[in-house]
Amino acid sequence: MLPQGFIQDLLARVDIVDVVGRQVELKKAGINHKGLCPFHGEKTPSFIVSPTRQTYHCFGCGAHGDAIRFLVEQGGLHFMDAVRDLAQQVGVTVPEDERKPEDRERAAQERQHQVTLSDVLAKAGDHWRAQLKATPRAVAYLKKRGLTGEIAARFGMGYAPEGWRGLASVFPKYDDPLLAEAGLVIVKDEEGDEGAEQKRYDRFRDRIMFPIRSVKGDVIGFGGRVLDAGEPKYLNSPETPVFVKGRELYGLYEARQALRTKGYALVVEGYMDVVALAQSGFANAVATLGTACTADHVAKLFRFTDAVVFSFDGDAAGRRAAGRALEASLPHAGDTRSIRFLFLPPEHDPDSFVRENGPEAFDQAVAGALPLSRMLLQTAGEGADLATPEGRARLLAQAGPLFALLPAGLLREQILAELAQAGGLGAEQLSRLWGEAAARRPGAARQAPPADDAPPADDDRGARPSSRHAQRFAPRRMPGATTNLLDRAAWLLLQHVALWDELGPEQHERLAGQPAPYGGFFAWIERCLHEHGPLSRNGLLEHLHDGEEHAEVDPGLNALVQRVSQLHDLDAEVQPMPELQAVLQRLHVQQVKDELNLIIESGELSDAAVARRNELLAQQQALARAARSGA
Ligand code: UTP
Ligand code: MN
Repeated sequence: MLPQGFIQDLLARVDIVDVVGRQVELKKAGINHKGLCPFHGEKTPSFIVSPTRQTYHCFGCGAHGDAIRFLVEQGGLHFMDAVRDLAQQVGVTVPEDERKPEDRERAAQERQHQVTLSDVLAKAGDHWRAQLKATPRAVAYLKKRGLTGEIAARFGMGYAPEGWRGLASVFPKYDDPLLAEAGLVIVKDEEGDEGAEQKRYDRFRDRIMFPIRSVKGDVIGFGGRVLDAGEPKYLNSPETPVFVKGRELYGLYEARQALRTKGYALVVEGYMDVVALAQSGFANAVATLGTACTADHVAKLFRFTDAVVFSFDGDAAGRRAAGRALEASLPHAGDTRSIRFLFLPPEHDPDSFVRENGPEAFDQAVAGALPLSRMLLQTAGEGADLATPEGRARLLAQAGPLFALLPAGLLREQILAELAQAGGLGAEQLSRLWGEAAARRPGAARQAPPADDAPPADDDRGARPSSRHAQRFAPRRMPGATTNLLDRAAWLLLQHVALWDELGPEQHERLAGQPAPYGGFFAWIERCLHEHGPLSRNGLLEHLHDGEEHAEVDPGLNALVQRVSQLHDLDAEVQPMPELQAVLQRLHVQQVKDELNLIIESGELSDAAVARRNELLAQQQALARAARSGA
């Protein structure tokens, strides 16, 4: 495996003009070099090599890429051979493996540890399922709530009996630290006569148990409900290496199929809502885990569907939750996505509503849900009397920060026009006001980006792009270098679907968050993997038309799959996982660079733009540091 950043370093040392110049006769043309395109027959040169960007581009046939891509496409070399070739030219040796053996060992151990945690949780879940069958009182409770045995089984529901050490019968080594780490056992230090002593007991006692599963189907945590009155009503697993609440959605694993047949995801607040809705024909329901809906949640959902309906209780708490969901979803509001908000009557939650009024009434309520644009307007207009200039100003002031979260695109322009109209201004005027407000503020003067070795703005920011503002400056048009990398990643995953599960959540989001058709492609890979297991390439292609009767197969996806599956075959020597990692690394570097250029070239000085720029610079420095230290 190649060290992180190796490719980046290599490309920095190579001059693409030399590399291409060996095969193509180039003439200087301004800051670039020009020649006859080697990828298609032509008589007048339209093939440009840029020494500043270190890329080539043909205006005739669209071929483009960096030095490695050139050797692969033009010289017919395999990726690793192209790398070795270039490395040799600049006198660099290609290291055999990216990671030190101890790092590799540690990564393998971490993965193993997560598997172990999931196994422990699954074992507890099995036990509680068996206990449910043996406990008439628990069965009666679920019956009283209107649930069938079939639904309880589908969700793997169980019952954790009374008693402090019920799990000791399942795990004979009850003081195994793994049980505490998995969140099943609570450890308390107690001062006894003989000094400090540890006391251990089951976290979940006398509760109906809801296992929470990852999209892969592994048990990663539990929610437990009291049967009668009692506090707290729900007890949840703590966060563990396998359970991150801001990222997981209850019921997503169980809803996979229904998301496709229903064509949308229904996001609700409670475990019971998910289960009751599934029983009433809305198996497409998922719930956040007692936390506010995050942008990570929304991003995850959009990997499985193009349409999301948030359903909130009609009370004040529901309104607040809806406000947070609005913020979380604005950065993901693309032109072809649908995001809507459903408010039930104040006395109801989805569970009670569907029981009392039936599935048709719920369907009707869904049909009447507020589109995101309406919801934004309503939220911004809270407390604003639009008949007065003060009220209109208030509306616009409240709308500004929300509007800033929207990604560039047609929907954004539409909403701008509506807000301007409601606020009594022209759209251009409003756009100018919002663009200029930040520029006039003191301290927002135009700055040159700091040099590469300047101290990092904020170390931690580099690790995770905040979704706030993240998409606003996303390039509208993907530069060639990015599409090359995405093609490569798509091709690797098409050959080895199972690699998907070896990537981390950030890498999943990086890929699934790409613009069409790539984002849809990676989401499709994930769906196929989780619905059908690790299929061969041909197996995958058979499922390409699965969703067609629901008219959800994007023609762009089809074309991409056809094109990518025809890319040359993998070198037997190439290790697909290391290569995918290297590609992802380059993709990250490339995207940071592209977005930075875009912001700098745009001359935008709004707070959001400046904040995003600093964030990107910090990321760039972190990436360069990682590359230098060869970690
Ligand atoms: P609700 O109180 O609305 O519960 O909390 P519910 O799902 O409708 O349950 P029933 O119908 O009373 O049985 C919504 C969600 O908030 C979290 C849980 O995820 C719950 O499903 N919650 C609630 C907690 O985590 N702890 C609590 O004590 C209460
Ligand atoms: Mn309820």
